[in-house]
Amino acid sequence: MKADEVRKVGVIGCGLMGSGIVEVSAKSGMDVQFVEVSDEKVAKQRGRIEKSISKAVEKGKLAQEDAEAAMGRISGGTDLDAAGDADLVIEAVTEDLDTKLDVFARLDGLTRDEVVLASNTSSMPIGKMAAATERPDRVLGMHFFNPVPVMKLLELVRGLETSDETLEFARGMGERLGKTVVVSKDRAGFIVNTLLSCYLNMAVKMVEEGFASKEDIDTAVTLGLGHPMGPLTLLDLVGIDTAYAISDVLYQQFKDPIYSAPNLMAQMVQAGHFGRKTGKGFYDYGK
Ligand code: 3HC
Repeated sequence: MKADEVRKVGVIGCGLMGSGIVEVSAKSGMDVQFVEVSDEKVAKQRGRIEKSISKAVEKGKLAQEDAEAAMGRISGGTDLDAAGDADLVIEAVTEDLDTKLDVFARLDGLTRDEVVLASNTSSMPIGKMAAATERPDRVLGMHFFNPVPVMKLLELVRGLETSDETLEFARGMGERLGKTVVVSKDRAGFIVNTLLSCYLNMAVKMVEEGFASKEDIDTAVTLGLGHPMGPLTLLDLVGIDTAYAISDVLYQQFKDPIYSAPNLMAQMVQAGHFGRKTGKGFYDYGK
């Protein structure tokens, strides 16, 4: 199948990343079926998508009628079977390998043989997810960046058995979604998170050691390096739980102390201070 023939995309898991993938797919003219774990979450994530699409209208990036058409293309539910007739499925569930393996094995049984199954994982081995299916040549990583509607990059991750055809299909999909594509081998962290993880860990260590205040660290990076936001604000955006999980995967694979997450990060995860999504991280966001 060619990317421009895709009519329906399945998105499994509709959190911070999944909801963004749903949004960009619907805005690009495809029908989208997203799958969540409960009716409450389906309603909540639909609200999140609506809010982001409205923001795009407010910012002058999308016409009101196109926003309404995009919302009309989105369906949500709790049954994985509803994604069974999709032409591409993107998994964006939590960064837990066993959960992902289960999703891939079930999708393999539900979808047509030619359908590409992609994972939005930020660090986990694509090869393992491929091995949970009978179609390892049609499995790859499609790693988006947060906030998905705004960030222009799509990192494609090629597993050992991913075919040239699958890679070209995903490249075409990336272009259809308005993204610029880069390709990485199946190595924990791929390109971006290999670089990002040690930088974020180092910033947390600086806070932990009282080297400088969080505000000064963020200001230094924003004004001194021209980044759109400093590392602690970025951690709150990405999710401290997610950053911690990525760091752990990198550390487990390479055993390099540069990837070892600081104690403060572990404590914040234990306390449920995940950043914006829980209302509290390095900064407070209210309820
Ligand atoms: N839909 C479409 N466009 C939108 C939008 C929406 N919902 N919301 C905002 N925009 C557009 C705005 O119109 C604006 O466009 P312009 O530059 O053409 O005017 C642009 O996005 C910026 O929007 P804002 O002015 O509202 O917001 P800020 O200037 O404060 O930028 C930000 C917000 C885009 C989040 C910026 O701070 C940023 O780029 N931060 C860094 C984010 C980053 O590094 N993400 C990667 C994290 S790592 C990751 O995701 C990998 C994972 O595996 C961990």
